[in-house]
Amino acid sequence: MGQDATVPATVIVGAQWGDEGKGKIVDLLARESDVVCRYQGGPNAGHTIVTDGETYKLHHIPSGILSPGTACVIGAGCVIDPETFVGELDELEARGLSTADIHVSGNAHLIMPWHVAIDRASERRLGRLQIGTTRRGIGPAYADKASRLGIRVQDLLDAKILRQKIETALAEKNVWLERVYGAPPLDLDECAERLERVAQRLRPYVADTSLLVDTALREGKRVLLEGAQGTLLDLDHGTYPFVTSSNPVAAAAATGVGIGPTRIDEVVGVSKAYVTRVGEGPFPTEIEGPDQERMRELGGEYGTTTGRERRCGWLDLVALRYAARVNGLTSLALTKLDVLSHFERIPVCVRYRLPDGEETREFPAHQSDFHHAEPVFEVLDGWEEPIGDRLPRAAREYVDFVEDQIVVPVSLVGTGQAREAIVALH
Ligand code: IMP
Repeated sequence: MGQDATVPATVIVGAQWGDEGKGKIVDLLARESDVVCRYQGGPNAGHTIVTDGETYKLHHIPSGILSPGTACVIGAGCVIDPETFVGELDELEARGLSTADIHVSGNAHLIMPWHVAIDRASERRLGRLQIGTTRRGIGPAYADKASRLGIRVQDLLDAKILRQKIETALAEKNVWLERVYGAPPLDLDECAERLERVAQRLRPYVADTSLLVDTALREGKRVLLEGAQGTLLDLDHGTYPFVTSSNPVAAAAATGVGIGPTRIDEVVGVSKAYVTRVGEGPFPTEIEGPDQERMRELGGEYGTTTGRERRCGWLDLVALRYAARVNGLTSLALTKLDVLSHFERIPVCVRYRLPDGEETREFPAHQSDFHHAEPVFEVLDGWEEPIGDRLPRAAREYVDFVEDQIVVPVSLVGTGQAREAIVALH
């Protein structure tokens, strides 16, 4: 697939631990799309888009908002912090962008103040064993959803029901906060008033988004399904427990938006030309020594949502092969290749060595194998010249090597920060 995508429903999925530069790829493909949808996650995600000298930092609203005429959908599989969402609406409008074509599923769940309080308190209590969450209340909100105790976007439509639900939830959550975590309880009136204020602003955006996307597909429109986080942070297929509480993998795009899996034609994986990870958990190719800091500085590897330093490592093809498998990738976008321009020799992990000495090309199915896996590297030549509209020979060889190893075509290569710094290959 090239820049002139013609397929109706395409999923864009992070192929690593999040922060792969999906926003830039979505932004590019959104220009030819009629609808862009988020299908999971919440304000734990953050994408920065630089366009016409303006920098936009978004958490909830899909990157498609910057493409005129593109509808933006937040699907049922997402969790929404209503105050963050309203803040984004206000900011976009203040900068002259219309928010009229943003639609939020009434079935999406709300992140409430107690979710944020519990996320923080729980991480504090875990201490050294903490997951390193974004503290945005993601896990507690999805837990309440699964327990059927959640408050949904459609509950905002009726102030009386809303207050009742808050009251019921708080009766239990305050016991948890006080007795389990020793944290201060939350006040019912204050929570209800805060929510009622944002409810007014949010109501016009609530829609039957499953129907909206289905109708668009029936009319032959192009729909982009934008994943947040990444494959290795997937609740079922990631490096549990150091994962998020939703399913970023491509198949979840269908459930998260409310369409059948047969409607999805293309799955574009997005991977950096190296690897980063924020939060705790195993990371076999993490760099030791000064190259770690160098890569962080060159790549500007600091979290959009939390500002935390990202851990940096060499490209891990075992993990990428796994991402190709669990997502059914039809192509790959390789971002930030320019960051590697500064390295003379570039190690790439092609196999893991397991504790019993066996070497494998497959991602270990058992956590202790993964925790103890040692990377086996092949070292490729660097190019040490800036990448322009064309890739230097060694850079092209790097891309070809990735393609051969994971058996997925690399369709796009990111070569710089600017919106247009991207090379289409196939
Ligand atoms: P949570 O999603 O806030 O519960 O955090 C769980 C794990 O996912 C932590 O390791 C976070 O650092 C990581 N995480 C969540 N969202 C993102 C993201 O957008 N990019 C990268 N890592 C993320």
